[in-house]
Amino acid sequence: MGIKGVIFDLDGVLVHTDRYHYLAWKRILAEYGKEFSLEDNEKIKGVARSRSLEILLEMKDISMSEVEKISVLRKKNNWYLESVKDIDEEDVLPGVLDFLEQLKSNGYRTAIASTSDNAYIILELTGLRKYFDNVVDGYKVKSPKPNPEVYLVGALEMDLDPSECLAFEDSHAGVLSAKRAGMKVIAVSDKEIPEADKWITSLDGLDLSILTI
Ligand code: BG6
Ligand code: MG
Repeated sequence: MGIKGVIFDLDGVLVHTDRYHYLAWKRILAEYGKEFSLEDNEKIKGVARSRSLEILLEMKDISMSEVEKISVLRKKNNWYLESVKDIDEEDVLPGVLDFLEQLKSNGYRTAIASTSDNAYIILELTGLRKYFDNVVDGYKVKSPKPNPEVYLVGALEMDLDPSECLAFEDSHAGVLSAKRAGMKVIAVSDKEIPEADKWITSLDGLDLSILTI
């Protein structure tokens, strides 16, 4: 069956907001006297906020009361929002607009499948919202990536079978989510994600021939 719809993760695929999530967590961990490297960050890429905190607490051997967790999660999000408040069209990653224009002018359906509760904010600030028929964000699904729900809902909202959809993802959790939903997945990452069907490092220069993988 041919591809009729393309579903994109947002942070790290279309916009470099993955960096701001990383920096906000780094600042949180610094308050506990802990380092946080980009390699550590790979373990929480694409993972929901509260689950990310649980992973970090275990990784860095920090114990925290439930009350403190709530305030840390709030602080992390406030710092993240503060760091993205001035982003705009210029922050859209290279090749993204050109590829989205090609998809839209050739009649492909498009959706966002993001774990972030802040997806709409980023889509509005960057002017990307108009390119997507459907947006699935952290508020819309119960089970975050690597659960398949977010990609399945994306396919359902586009009125397509998952086998008619192609996903673009930068995280291991996200690649697993899309694969479990029954889609072909292209990893957009500096490092290979073995579970993906294909690996590219950027959307720059991409054309519609990628849809035939
Ligand atoms: C994902 C990011 O898109 O969204 C993760 O890759 C982030 O780093 C997750 O934790 C949840 O985002 P938010 O904005 O709801 O904290
Ligand atoms: Mg991502």
